[in-house]
Amino acid sequence: MSPVMNTVIPRPSSVLGTGRSFELPADARILVQPNAPEVAQIGEFLAAALRPATGLALPVTAGAAQERGTIHLTTAAADPALGAEGYELLVAPHGVLLAAPRPAGLFRGVQTIRQLLPAAVERRTVAPGPWTLPTGVLRDAPRFAWRGAMLDVARHFFPVADVKRYLDLLAYYKFNVLHLHLTDDQGWRIEIKSWPRLAEYGGSTAVDGAPGGYYTQEQYADLARYAAERYITIVPEIDMPSHTNAALASYALLNCEGEAPALYTGTAVGFSTLCMGKETTFRFMDDVLGELAALTPGPYLHIGGDEADSTSPEDYQTFMRQVQAIVQSHGKTVVGWGEIAQAPLTPGTMVQHWRQDLTPQAAASGHKVILSPAGKTYLDMKYDEATPFGLSWAGYVTVQDAFAWNPGAYLAGVGEDAVAGVEAPLWTETIPTFAEAEFMLFPRLLAVAELGWSPAAGRTWDEFRSRLAHHGPRLEGLGVNFFRAPEIDWPETL
Ligand code: ACM
Repeated sequence: MSPVMNTVIPRPSSVLGTGRSFELPADARILVQPNAPEVAQIGEFLAAALRPATGLALPVTAGAAQERGTIHLTTAAADPALGAEGYELLVAPHGVLLAAPRPAGLFRGVQTIRQLLPAAVERRTVAPGPWTLPTGVLRDAPRFAWRGAMLDVARHFFPVADVKRYLDLLAYYKFNVLHLHLTDDQGWRIEIKSWPRLAEYGGSTAVDGAPGGYYTQEQYADLARYAAERYITIVPEIDMPSHTNAALASYALLNCEGEAPALYTGTAVGFSTLCMGKETTFRFMDDVLGELAALTPGPYLHIGGDEADSTSPEDYQTFMRQVQAIVQSHGKTVVGWGEIAQAPLTPGTMVQHWRQDLTPQAAASGHKVILSPAGKTYLDMKYDEATPFGLSWAGYVTVQDAFAWNPGAYLAGVGEDAVAGVEAPLWTETIPTFAEAEFMLFPRLLAVAELGWSPAAGRTWDEFRSRLAHHGPRLEGLGVNFFRAPEIDWPETL
């Protein structure tokens, strides 16, 4: 049976299968454009992904012209209309040509090459071949510029190795943003040198007495680098003015009364607030955001802004005025949860919608919107009543729920042009380890990948459902602890 081309997730813009196949020969090589270190690095990434299962040497060598038996990566002569992340892939019986105007596009195309090979290619030990790709022509570019996932490392702490694993899995499905929810009432997870007790003391706890922890600045910079190698931008969040008990507990002087509350390991929200009557608070915000801006190569700082139930409306306005000025002074763009639309927003500030709010008003004034509606994208919601952990305040979210909506027409008054993209948060009140995280994320994250990347035209649940089934063995090869959702006809070998 000839392999088919239409099993890729997210679905490419256009695929034309030609019904034959290319088999990687024993002396297969990855050929990269000469004098292009970034392209060579992407070639090495592909080789490293394919070597363990194929057992092939797959040397990466420089060469300008296509050669038999190679996978050729190049940014030369690629159609500029493909944009920042688009690519063209030609699989012929004698070899593969991947062309993109930008290296990011090559990196996205490399994920497509992986997915066109048999699922066993994802295993980390040698598996039986043959290693064939279906022939054809594929042209692909994303629908939205922001295709994100958020990990709450505050309620439970996830060590660097977990975050790297998550980045690897996100890259496989062409995500380009990892939003890290670094601080909350239950824990402060990033070292701040000018306020060392934030991490040392405020990072010592997690929900229900689970182990605390934090990232040193060196570890965070390493994560940002690891993400950048996968063309993923880290968006760090310092949640303020509420969700700040860990900070308030670390420094008495941040509290209006000058007294530090106890550390907190419950799961209530909205009870803490920064004190807007103190100059110290603004110095704290400037120090924290300044250090984080210096460590963060990406253009965004997320300032939270959600559920500030203990902050007066006047104080909330003060907070928003100050925080936007501070973030701007450090050369970054503000992102905040939907509640920030209650305050005047400076040009460029982005709004992340999660529940009913004033996002449409912000969009009408030109602010870009990130869509994270809880009933569709909150992957900490249970799949159904039998899901062993997770929450259900926004309802159960089946794979079909996560898939069957249109980000370009979801909020009245927020059309396609106002939407930067979609993001799937994973809040971790009930998620102590990454194995549980994977169970909640997969396979729903593949639906989010599809919404963010693929064209809306031609999208149907039935077609996605059958394509998703092909990813069961892939996820298994990658060692992912995914939920065998009963909506999907998984292959019997799973
Ligand atoms: C949120 O779920 N509090 C943004």
